Amino acid sequence: MIRTILTYPNPELKKKSAPVTIITEKIRELARDMAETMYNAPGIGLAAPQIGVHQRIIVIDVSGHDEQPELIIALNPVIVHAEGEAYEEEGCLSVPKYAANVRRHASVVVKGLDLDGNEKVWRADDLLAIAFQHEIDHLDGILFVDHLSPLKRDLFQRKARRLAEAATEAS
Ligand code: NI
Repeated sequence: MIRTILTYPNPELKKKSAPVTIITEKIRELARDMAETMYNAPGIGLAAPQIGVHQRIIVIDVSGHDEQPELIIALNPVIVHAEGEAYEEEGCLSVPKYAANVRRHASVVVKGLDLDGNEKVWRADDLLAIAFQHEIDHLDGILFVDHLSPLKRDLFQRKARRLAEAATEAS
């Protein structure tokens, strides 16, 4: 089932998510819905709080249009090692019509659980490494715009207000 993606400045996006303790059928259904919602958007990653569920679950697929899908579902993901620097343009399904460059690590090692409760280690570089960092941030209530310089953040907030006003006038 495709779920509604919450957008900035919805306060639900600022809340910290709790670890998954038991992998119930409800959690599996949630993960399936998250993947469906991400592919439908379309996007390359989605975290549970973006659909209003405050559990530590992320889904990512950075494969290209002409490639086989490579869906990653990670429960309770934690970055255990990070190195290198990246400064790439990012967007977010919860921050429509806005993109900006963000400083991240170029490579990360992430530990977590898969949907069967097995411990997994993901070694990620480049776009996948950025996606892991971006999605794990969501679990702590952090959006990519929170990483911007005060000046850029101010410009973003002005633009977001203008878009919100335009949407209100149009409705
Ligand atoms: Ni995002």
